[in-house]
Amino acid sequence: MTLSWVKKYEPKKIGEIEGQDEAVKELDKFVESFSKQKKRAVLLYGPSGSGKTVSVYAVAKKHNLEMLEVNASDFRNKEQIDSKVGHASRQMSLFTKGKVILVDEIEGLSGQQDRGGLAALAKLIDETAFPIVLTAQNPWDQKFNAIRKKTSLIHFEELGYSNIYNVLKRICKEEKIKFDDIALKGLARRAGGDLRAGINDLQSLVEEKKELTRESLEYLSQRSKIESMPSALIKVLKNSDPKIALGAFENVEEDIDKQFIWLDENLPKEYKDTSDLARAYEFMSRADVFKGRIRRWQHWRFLVYVNALLTAGVAVSKDEKYKDFVSYTPTRRILKIWAANMKYQKRKAIAAKIAEKTHTSSSRVMKDTLPYLQTIFRENKKMGKELADGLDLEPEELDWLSK
Ligand SMILES: Nc1ncnc2c1ncn2[C@@H]1O[C@H](COP(=O)(O)OP(=O)(O)O)[C@@H](O)[C@H]1O
Ligand SMILES: [Mg+2]
Repeated sequence: MTLSWVKKYEPKKIGEIEGQDEAVKELDKFVESFSKQKKRAVLLYGPSGSGKTVSVYAVAKKHNLEMLEVNASDFRNKEQIDSKVGHASRQMSLFTKGKVILVDEIEGLSGQQDRGGLAALAKLIDETAFPIVLTAQNPWDQKFNAIRKKTSLIHFEELGYSNIYNVLKRICKEEKIKFDDIALKGLARRAGGDLRAGINDLQSLVEEKKELTRESLEYLSQRSKIESMPSALIKVLKNSDPKIALGAFENVEEDIDKQFIWLDENLPKEYKDTSDLARAYEFMSRADVFKGRIRRWQHWRFLVYVNALLTAGVAVSKDEKYKDFVSYTPTRRILKIWAANMKYQKRKAIAAKIAEKTHTSSSRVMKDTLPYLQTIFRENKKMGKELADGLDLEPEELDWLSK
């Protein structure tokens, strides 16, 4: 497994954080003068990949404070949260090291299973003896009203393209990557303010050849058109916000069967924890059962439920996100089985049609009639055409049988 560059080039010190001077200064001040603060928590907000999480770690490090990271799963029951932070947050001992408590991505706290999670968080803020830092992409959601009142907001701006360019360039130098400057600028622009995405793109483009050319950039933009499946999978596998996950497959070309196959192939590469994996497959299998019923009864409008299970279901199945860099791939093996299966289904459908015309059973037609018909279709176009007309075959079906 290759170390992800996002991890490798994570800023370790405040000074290494790019383009967020104001925000980092405010955060630093909050932690430093915590004992004098009226509000016991800050809420860092801003787009994904702008440096919220890394800033918290860097500031804690600067003040030689321990990091205590709490996530959604800790809030699932009261004992759990108490045992992890309850005690630690209420008393400050002379002998223990100071702490910063981080609740990253509080969006994850408001799912069905976590009802009460936000209330538990509010309580934690009221009682804490240590600075608490929360992060969110959108803090204005109504459900955060109560929490917002208890925090000072610190805004992380979307990173500008030149900030992203600076970081990418630094990485190229470290990794001894030969790069075309225009291509690198293009890559920085393409990241749309998300440095994490920019670094990931860079790594996937240059890892093998150690070179970034304009052609490789073109490859990336082409790839994003035809091969948007990997980026759709990121929204399911690398994310745990159900709202984002729900729209993951909106812009892919592949139909729902392919979505299943892609997920099935890549899920175990991403989810390393077996109970995460079990939950995710449970959702997939329910989605599959649903899909079967929909197909049988032709109730296509229920497909939204299949989508919800497949995307949001799988996304919330993990307790924590996995940080490794995984490149998502299609399976040859399953695709082959799938293609063979489709062929069989098609053959069966045509056989059923011929069976009705010739007053016999589909399986008879499959076994006895089709092989002869196919030979005739291939060898004698004229006779084939007449037969096909007589059997009411569509041109496309005739075509298919002639191959
Ligand atoms: N402002 C920044 N300066 C330097 N690196 C950054 C910055 N923002 C993001 N990164 C890179 O992107 C990765 C993800 O950043 P992170 O802090 O997790 O983003 P957020 O929490 O805002 O989604 C980091 O590990 C780091 O490599
Ligand atoms: Mg983060």
